[in-house]
Amino acid sequence: MKRLSLAVALLLAPALAQAWPWSMDMANQISVKPQESVDPANPGMKPFPARSVPVPGTTLAVKDMEAALKLPNPIPADEKSVQKGAQLFAIYCVPCHGKSGTGDGYVGAKLILRPFDLTSADLAAKPDGHIFGMMTFGGAIMPPYAYDLSATERWNIVNYVRKGLKQVSATQAATSAK
Ligand code: HEC
Repeated sequence: MKRLSLAVALLLAPALAQAWPWSMDMANQISVKPQESVDPANPGMKPFPARSVPVPGTTLAVKDMEAALKLPNPIPADEKSVQKGAQLFAIYCVPCHGKSGTGDGYVGAKLILRPFDLTSADLAAKPDGHIFGMMTFGGAIMPPYAYDLSATERWNIVNYVRKGLKQVSATQAATSAK
């Protein structure tokens, strides 16, 4: 028994030495630790900056396509929004729908189902929420973009599809007529 307790004591000894107050001296110096508040009036952990922590599903605020159809477009289709939408459209949509939006992109040409014409009268008759919903949930072939594009970014693209694409097709018609 004595021998056993000696063995246990020997085993614990290094652990005890580690636990002395000095083992924390380096950690507890005057420094700002990650997430620590620098404001003495508001101590405690700082909240994470917005959108710095990926949480699956948070950008998918709409339930389904039916709910998306009823969504009003919260972003006015001003020049700034249309311009932002144009940049995003060039990255995310042009490969399939083409620069003109008519569905003549290089990737689109390889799909079994041709990407729909985004300048069609058919789409013009549908609510903005339809375009938003297509980006949020995707289609039979079209992938969803809810995890790549924030809701605001998706509405900016909607505004570009509505306003900017018309200008593109008008310029194309003008140049091909020459
Ligand atoms: C991988 C190719 C691909 C990409 C990229 C893509 N789409 Fe599509 N899109 C399609 C296809 C194919 C369809 C036909 C419907 C389906 O897939 O069910 C479609 C259909 C649509 C429709 C429905 C049109 C209608 O008349 O009802 C909208 C709106 C749309 N896409 C918008 C977009 C936007 C905006 C982007 C960029 C964020 C985008 N798509 C990116 C392939 C793509």
